[in-house]
Amino acid sequence: MSQLARLLIAFLAAFCYVTTAKYVPGISYIDDVQLSYNNGTWQCDRITCKARAHGCKITIRNNPNNESELIRSSACYTKEGVSMRQLSQTQRMLKPKTVNIDVDSYVGAQSVYTSAYSLSWQEVKGTIAAEDWPNAQKDTRASMKAVDESHG
Ligand SMILES: *[C@@H]1O[C@H](CO)[C@@H](O)[C@H](O)[C@H]1NC(C)=O
Ligand SMILES: *[C@@H]1O[C@H](CO)[C@@H](O)[C@H](O)[C@H]1NC(C)=O
Repeated sequence: MSQLARLLIAFLAAFCYVTTAKYVPGISYIDDVQLSYNNGTWQCDRITCKARAHGCKITIRNNPNNESELIRSSACYTKEGVSMRQLSQTQRMLKPKTVNIDVDSYVGAQSVYTSAYSLSWQEVKGTIAAEDWPNAQKDTRASMKAVDESHG
């Protein structure tokens, strides 16, 4: 738990308006994102990096040209901050939502990040140590569930 104790999780739930539409439980856009570091190998979402990879950056944001799509990108970088390998893909959203996910992880990182969610919005920003990633996903889901249930 000592690692967890260093986590800073600020959870904000903002409700701009209450809709009368049928409620659909939220999707966490970090749920299927892979982030791990083992024995010199990074799993940086959908790319794997070995050798000189020092860190991994993952972003998921709305496609400015299409509100139904997200642009999901990941990149490994060297100690000097030079990008080594990267991948950018578009992903369809079932229900348009504002998504801003910007995660940085590197060897020896300490987790300091914020996670926020509302019915129309999800944001996860900051540095997350690879070993804390499963907990970041779990905590995000738990926070979402609390918001979802208050609207149930
Ligand atoms: C770790 O990586 C090294 C070098 O690639 C390899 O020789 C070794 O078998 C790996 N160890 C484990 C436990 O995967
Ligand atoms: C927006 O993205 C959706 C899902 O990928 C696609 O079906 C639709 O044709 C796109 N719309 C435009 C205007 O490109």
